[in-house]
Amino acid sequence: MQIFSITSGKGGVGKTSLICNMALHFARLERRVLLIDADMGLANVDIMMGFKPEATLAELFAGEVELADLLVEARPNVTVLPAASGVQEMTHLEDGQMLQLMTALDALDADFDIVLVDTGAGIGRNVLRFNAAAGRVLVVSTPEPTSMTDAYATIKVLSTSHGVKRFKLIVNQVDTRKQALRVYRHLTNVADQYLDVAIDYAGFVLRDPEVSKSVIERKLLLERLPESPAAKCIEALVDDLLKDADEDEVHGNMQFFWKRLLKAE
Ligand SMILES: Nc1ncnc2c1ncn2[C@@H]1O[C@H](COP(=O)(O)OP(=O)(O)OP(=O)(O)O)[C@@H](O)[C@H]1O
Ligand SMILES: [Mg+2]
Repeated sequence: MQIFSITSGKGGVGKTSLICNMALHFARLERRVLLIDADMGLANVDIMMGFKPEATLAELFAGEVELADLLVEARPNVTVLPAASGVQEMTHLEDGQMLQLMTALDALDADFDIVLVDTGAGIGRNVLRFNAAAGRVLVVSTPEPTSMTDAYATIKVLSTSHGVKRFKLIVNQVDTRKQALRVYRHLTNVADQYLDVAIDYAGFVLRDPEVSKSVIERKLLLERLPESPAAKCIEALVDDLLKDADEDEVHGNMQFFWKRLLKAE
């Protein structure tokens, strides 16, 4: 099982749009995906994938529903654990609740090949913990200077306070591949000077107004316009992640993930 988290320094850079479409492509490549929406951002996974969660985490903790009632089979091979609506965000859970969720999810360990965690932006305690636990951290930045500075800040905190030493950078909303490479080079130059980390280049996604239109229509870009340039970028990204993953001998499982999550400060 491979566990990836997606995060960013600045909000609104495209994490949720990317992760939902990536989940779809993983699934089309016959990977069984669990997508955990640990963030309440501008638009949640349920909105982007066009479904309405029927139960909430609050009901799970109250013992009114079971985990199976929360999980939504959003697409073939894509199961979503939706963000806790209203009452409580997953990134604000107490340790006891986290443990309860962990125990319930542990039973699903054999059911998934890929776990994707949308952790949200910034350096809040639980956002950092989710990323530290995942092990494979995808950092999204756009070419905007503020986005790059904030991506750097996230990498810095994760490496210095949480021991994460390896990152994969996705550069979103670029006009050219060259522009993405410049962003990558800039970030790695600064990181090489001041931090003890390895940042891999995961790929880029072109700026494309169709991404926003898809969100408004509550459909996925890969379904609406599979031939669009941004869709092709996302597919290439996933193909490369799978190639890396095959070469990577470290295989996490759900239990490790949750244990690390509880341990992480
Ligand atoms: N490649 C792209 N081209 C054009 N627009 C994009 C692209 N990627 C994302 N967007 C748009 O940017 C906006 C923010 O995207 P999204 O909600 O996915 O970001 P986010 O990082 O998850 O935000 P938050 O931090 O609030 O969770 C959306 O309107 C989305 O359609
Ligand atoms: Mg989001």
